[in-house]
Amino acid sequence: MTTRTLNHARLNRRQLVTMAAATAGAWWLPRSAWSQARWSHNPFSLGVASGSPTHDSVVLWTRLHVDLPLGAGVGREPITLRWELAHDEQFTRIVQQGQAAALPELAHAVHVEVQGLEPDRWYFYRFMTGDALSAVGRTRTFPMPDAVVSSLRLAYASCQKWEDGYFSAWRHMREENPDAVMFLGDYIYEYPGKSSKLRVPTGGWVLTLEDYRRRYALYKGDPDLQAMHAACPWLMTWDDHEVQNDYAGQQAGNSGPADPSSAGDFLARRAAAYQAYYEHMPLRTSVLTQAVAGLGQGAEMRIYRRLPFGRLASLYLLDARQYKDPQACTPDGRRGSGRVNPQQCPQWNDPKRSMLGAMQEQWLGQELARQGSTQVTWNVLGQQTLLGQRDFRPGPGQLLWNDGWDGYASARTRLTDALRQHRVSNPVFLGGDVHENWVGHVLADYAKPASPSVGVEFCGTSITSRSGGNAKLAERLAENPHFVYAECERKGYGVLEFTPRQLNTTLRVLDDVTRPDARIETLARFAVQSGRPVIERV
Ligand SMILES: [Fe+2]
Repeated sequence: MTTRTLNHARLNRRQLVTMAAATAGAWWLPRSAWSQARWSHNPFSLGVASGSPTHDSVVLWTRLHVDLPLGAGVGREPITLRWELAHDEQFTRIVQQGQAAALPELAHAVHVEVQGLEPDRWYFYRFMTGDALSAVGRTRTFPMPDAVVSSLRLAYASCQKWEDGYFSAWRHMREENPDAVMFLGDYIYEYPGKSSKLRVPTGGWVLTLEDYRRRYALYKGDPDLQAMHAACPWLMTWDDHEVQNDYAGQQAGNSGPADPSSAGDFLARRAAAYQAYYEHMPLRTSVLTQAVAGLGQGAEMRIYRRLPFGRLASLYLLDARQYKDPQACTPDGRRGSGRVNPQQCPQWNDPKRSMLGAMQEQWLGQELARQGSTQVTWNVLGQQTLLGQRDFRPGPGQLLWNDGWDGYASARTRLTDALRQHRVSNPVFLGGDVHENWVGHVLADYAKPASPSVGVEFCGTSITSRSGGNAKLAERLAENPHFVYAECERKGYGVLEFTPRQLNTTLRVLDDVTRPDARIETLARFAVQSGRPVIERV
């Protein structure tokens, strides 16, 4: 099996793992001629990133952008690059350095898993190839799992539709100086460019591996997004648009009447999308290898995990997209999502229906059982969408959205039951997807309004993606009183400041997402005391 015969063919999962493992280790590889190349353009134009931090390790990422006119053959050859990690921004005190191979089979992406670092400290990193030097990235390790930690600043965000606005929010987030970013899904959108939009993405429908790579390259070229990736480690999960609108597990979704995907092989599309996601995110190779050892489904990518931040917080990244059962009772027999009257949907409360899939539910149950017996203060569950029930029909009767947790009510109850059963301390749910800020108490039983609060929820707005507006906001809040606050127009992100005694959440929003020079302001602030799942507006 030579490099050349694999080129431009989709790799099977075993080949992909082999390739990924070869680039993730700090192996010394023979230098190719290209390592000495003089570049006619900046091959680091997609930026740098870091992620998946533990107390002694972090992933460093870049992708060499070689798909530019610079001479025959470069796009089909492996390229050796060097990386450096240092205590200082001038790289006078180098901690580790090495070489890595950027392989054409992985779109010349590199994932270096640096090991043996000191806990709870910041580092700087950069990449070099030939005469080209990347931007400098800043990253950090997390504290030891048993360390006493005084604070954590965690920013959360989701949904950055290129067409709908500028990525100014990332520029402002950088000034907040978070320890990490939790990204909750919809990093790209798969739609074709339309000239009527504010910004027109290049290309048509995103369907093939090459299409997904080009779409990521478009997004990754944004300087504000790049700057935020270079500022701190990112903790990644995904939602539907990294593949296709409203897909559910192995079932295709529905991107509208012009969507050509219904004719194709959805699992092949999903596998291509997952590979491109891996290629563009600071993920560990284990997201591929664990999946190979697991279900045997060629396309699986296991991105769910728990990251400890000392005894202060456990950060969960959940995947409520890859394993979910198809949405129930979507109107008119369509695929994808819709608003449903649960009284008229026999499957609605079927306990067999799952949002996370059996394996992830089992894993989460085990992790939560362990958390109940430790002294971790905050348990932060980052997932894709709104957790709390949101009834769209005023007065008697219900109209619920079947793609969110409302459409998987038994699975949601299993999750909240597990939190209570294991006495998990201070659950904090983060979500995205709805493009609106919703802040509320998580109820043990949404059928009983007086049911106890088992945790709190901050479902974030989008970086850019459009939402419906505030016309029905008062009505919706009155119908769903477990939510204490909502706002359905402004775009931005949230910042959580955890201390052993308190959580402070600040919702930050742009004055105008359609302007590249948008300013940022505070929309609302909330406090939650440890030991008491009650949200106070401050
Ligand atoms: Fe979205």
